[in-house]
Amino acid sequence: MYDFSFMIHPMEADDLSKKFNFTKGISSKYLEKILRFFPPFKAGTIEGIKSKCTGKEISGFFAVCPLTTRQILGLPQELVLRKIINTGRMAEKQGSMLLGLGAMTAVVGDAGLTVSKELGIPVTTGNSYTIALAMEGAKKAAKKMGIDIAQAEVAVVGATGSIGAVCAKLMAMDCKYLTLVAQDKSKLNALARDIIYETGQAVRITSDLKGTLKEAQIVITVTSAMNTIIEPEDLAPGSVVCDVARPRDVARRVTEERKDVLVIEGGLAEIPGDVRSTLDMGYPENITFACTAETMILALEGKREGWTLGREISFNQVREIHELGKKHGFKLAGFRSFNRKLTEEDIRLIRKNGSLPGGSNAV
Ligand SMILES: NC(=O)c1ccc[n+]([C@@H]2O[C@H](COP(=O)([O-])OP(=O)(O)OC[C@H]3O[C@@H](n4cnc5c(N)ncnc54)[C@H](OP(=O)(O)O)[C@@H]3O)[C@@H](O)[C@H]2O)c1
Repeated sequence: MYDFSFMIHPMEADDLSKKFNFTKGISSKYLEKILRFFPPFKAGTIEGIKSKCTGKEISGFFAVCPLTTRQILGLPQELVLRKIINTGRMAEKQGSMLLGLGAMTAVVGDAGLTVSKELGIPVTTGNSYTIALAMEGAKKAAKKMGIDIAQAEVAVVGATGSIGAVCAKLMAMDCKYLTLVAQDKSKLNALARDIIYETGQAVRITSDLKGTLKEAQIVITVTSAMNTIIEPEDLAPGSVVCDVARPRDVARRVTEERKDVLVIEGGLAEIPGDVRSTLDMGYPENITFACTAETMILALEGKREGWTLGREISFNQVREIHELGKKHGFKLAGFRSFNRKLTEEDIRLIRKNGSLPGGSNAV
């Protein structure tokens, strides 16, 4: 038996060659064709996750839904959901007692509600803890860059999504100038109305991403876009970008070409215990995505329930899972950018570059 499992999927077809040597050299297009008929599989285990409060130790495994991001967003939804449900069933058969949905498997359709109804084990998307850590990370990073949130221009990109909407509402309570960015104007209008009703804060709405980024000092970006949408020339000198999206919203070129902008990966957690994992996710073994961490926290707390399901997330869900995380010893992982740990010295240099007229190498 495993305390939990977590569903992942290849971001792109090339990711498969890391696991299956025989796929090397096969074109992405052909690999995707093969994937449609591939059964779900167990990719690796993770153990040694130990509560600092109770001493309870848990273990879990990763269940792979064999579809790429492009397929999950592009294939008929019924087919994609069937594949996600089958992956959940495989996890259940392998003895998992709780299932977390990762990356696009949590985004597609109704954000886990249908999947949960089809399985005999509780399911969570992990979005509540993702919101908690994204907010904590963005605020801490802003402070390090000398930005006063109360006076700053803040933008939430992907603001009408399940994670973005709560980030936007929480930001509205702290900052003076907030801009919400997404593509669908009617959803933006509805969210702006909710925000003024719930927080008293008037916000701007727009679909002009590029124009907004040029003015923003703090950006939380959490879209479901398939490709990167933020390029080096878009950003203001001295700004902070917290990229929560998977696949990423920020192009790798930003860290290479903008030494005056702090880009951090949002929603990364440090796991308590002597963690050992047989799956390389590109981070040290004790660092994981906040959505995976939410699944672990629920397992440690013995909460066998679907904590976060659907697109409506309450402040209480976010606050409570944040507190439970702290109780068991989970915390925000140090700042990282494109899988690389950022040191205090790195951040000091970025801040210095950002304060130069026009930034150090602003384009
Ligand atoms: N780091 C973590 O631990 C973690 C955990 C969970 C989820 N995630 C990631 O978070 C992201 C969002 O998840 P979600 O559940 O909130 O998704 P969601 O509910 O589907 O929301 C997606 C948002 O992105 C917007 N959007 C999509 N394409 C866009 C574009 N090209 N430009 C601007 N806005 C765009 C959508 O609005 P419009 O359609 O109107 O544009 C919507 O506001 C995903 O990438 C997911 O993998 C990360």
